[in-house]
Amino acid sequence: DASDIEKGTYPHYMLKEMDEQPTVIRKIIQAYEQGEDVTVDADILDALAEADRLYIIAAGTSYHAGLIGKQYFEKIAGIPVEVHISSEFGYNMPLLSKKPLFIFISQSGETADSRQVLVKIKELGYKSLTVTNVQGSTLSREADYTLLLHAGPEIAVASTKAYVAQIAVLAVAAYAVAKQTGVALDFDLKQELAIVANGIQTIIDSKDKMEQIAEDYLKIARNAFFIGRNMDFCVSLEGALKLKEISYIQAEGFAGGELKHGTIALIEEGTPVFALATQKDVALNIRGNVKEVVARGANACIIAMEGMEEEGDCLVLPPVHELLTPLVSVVPLQLISYYAALHRRCDVDKPRNLAKSVTVE
Ligand code: AGP
Repeated sequence: DASDIEKGTYPHYMLKEMDEQPTVIRKIIQAYEQGEDVTVDADILDALAEADRLYIIAAGTSYHAGLIGKQYFEKIAGIPVEVHISSEFGYNMPLLSKKPLFIFISQSGETADSRQVLVKIKELGYKSLTVTNVQGSTLSREADYTLLLHAGPEIAVASTKAYVAQIAVLAVAAYAVAKQTGVALDFDLKQELAIVANGIQTIIDSKDKMEQIAEDYLKIARNAFFIGRNMDFCVSLEGALKLKEISYIQAEGFAGGELKHGTIALIEEGTPVFALATQKDVALNIRGNVKEVVARGANACIIAMEGMEEEGDCLVLPPVHELLTPLVSVVPLQLISYYAALHRRCDVDKPRNLAKSVTVE
């Protein structure tokens, strides 16, 4: 559909693509629903269930989605997972398990670093699954199986809707294989994803807040930190990448507990620190980390899940299932990066030095 690749009334593709995220989640529910459930094809379920270990291979934002995927396959389905950066894996292969299954995550399906790994593992005789937005892409054609993201064309160089689509599809796959192998599950993923779609919409409807946060925290910042623990740590890596790519502000994502092992030395008067607090069992610890950086002059913005918020937090996220929090917590980070880039007059859709898909190793 032509409207998919036109900006319409939007000033930027990135804004349009962020806005599409609730629709993308709903499309994924539709594409993968079977009766009351969401699931994937039987041959993919078998391949996942037979593997003794999954190796997720990806780059950039797709790698960050893979880090969340690991949590899903391990916590929901009980399958051990390793996540590797494609460009490292190919030339420094770890010892592999007896029955590995390789999962390539790639929005474009054309990333050369990922493809060289696919070529190598095929030579070794291993099976592969590609999770991609582009049907018929190289990684999709060359792998044994494909799961599609159904996110529609993503034009902006900074990936947004593909990230949430990747996480949602990985959740569906992990949930489906858990059901297949008889794991007792205490939640209904289809229903929880519908709640996520509404939650993302709520955040998008309040974008003005994110514009204000970008103005307050990042207008003159030279650097910024994103901290979190557990899944929030994975999302903080993505928040930092978004900000770097489009606003050129130097940014780092950090595990909250790791700060005191070095990075806290960089905190000065006014350093912006974005802290995610969506995971109950580490809520107190991340609050502690915030106190540590504030005591050293940081300008902290806490993004907390509803029910875990405290007075003074700068943003409260609509409640979703604890495993699915990355799908909502990343959205304010995307929007904050977008507005920070706008305030700094950067070319949001086509940041300097970057290409949408990197087809050279
Ligand atoms: C994301 O904002 C980046 N532009 C980049 O990191 C991207 O995610 C990476 O190059 C991987 O691309 P792919 O998903 O198409 O393989």
